[in-house]
Formats: sequence, C-alpha cells, structure tokens
Amino acid sequence: MADELEFDLTLYPAPVLRRPALPVEAFDDELAQIVAAMFRRMVASQGVGLAAPQVGLKKRILVLNDSGQPADDLVLVNPTLVERSGPPVTFEEGCLSFPGIYAEVERPENCTVRAFDVQGQPIEATYGGFVSRIIQHEYDHLEGVLLVDRMSRADKLRHKTALEELVDRYKRSQPTGAQR
Ligand code: CO
Repeated sequence: MADELEFDLTLYPAPVLRRPALPVEAFDDELAQIVAAMFRRMVASQGVGLAAPQVGLKKRILVLNDSGQPADDLVLVNPTLVERSGPPVTFEEGCLSFPGIYAEVERPENCTVRAFDVQGQPIEATYGGFVSRIIQHEYDHLEGVLLVDRMSRADKLRHKTALEELVDRYKRSQPTGAQR
C-alpha cells in the first residue's frame, strides 16, 4: 500500500514523552492503522515493545512482542495495571527513545492488566517474565515515566554523556527560538 502510515521514533527529551497519554475513544480503522504502523516501527527498530507517545501520539496504546513470532503480537489499548505481584526482579532494559542506553531496573515479577484489544474486546490477564517486564516498561510511557527516571544514580552518571547528547540532538532539531 502506497499510503501506509509511517512513524518515526520520538527520542528523549521530546515533551510528548513526558505528557500522560489520553484514552483511545474509538476502536475504528484509524486505530487499526496506527497499531499496524506501530508494529512496523517496532520491528524495524528491533524493539520488543512500543508505546504511542514514542511515535508522537498522546494515546494509550502499547504494542509488544517478546519473541519475534507474529503469533506473540500483543496490543493493549487503554491498559490499566490492576496489580503488580511477585518478587522484585532486576533486569537490564533498553528503550527505543534512548538509543544505545541500557540500565538495570527493578520491577515486580508479574503484572495483571485490564485493557482492550484493537477491536475493542476486553482483555484481562496476568503476565510474568519478559512480557510482564515489557508491559511495565511500556505502561510507564503512558504515564510520562521514562527509563532515565528508573535508573540508579550510578547508571545516570555512567550515561551522562549519552543523555546530554540526546538533549543536544533534540535542541538542534528544534526551530531556532523554540530552544529551552
Ligand atoms: Co521505552
């Protein structure tokens, strides 16, 4: 299709990444196209999960795939994290909005999610392992919470230069006069 939606990644520190995303109101063809384009962006960027603010949309949509198998595609629209449970687990996370930056983040092992699929069918499930990890990371994006907020002071220091480079790159991408 010639007119397929195509998204670029939104990188830290773009303001849209800090704004709480808003609920999706219509389970229509536009939503289906957004979700499909988010999956294409995620796969092309070799990610395992993507939240709508990461493609510049203030919408409560997550897509993820923990295995690379199409059957494991998971779409969560308007998700609520009903419960987090299990022991805290530390795991090295990356984020498509922070290219090249990885940091250990502690999160509870499991999460229970209530959401809708792309057609508006309700989903309620408890996830563990890598899927739970991805969901919790992506859910943070909908609340404006980023990897940099979750990393230890030591990691922040270790990534100081890389983070500053992202800020510089963002500033350079803005029209003159819009710099803050
Ligand atoms: Co992320």
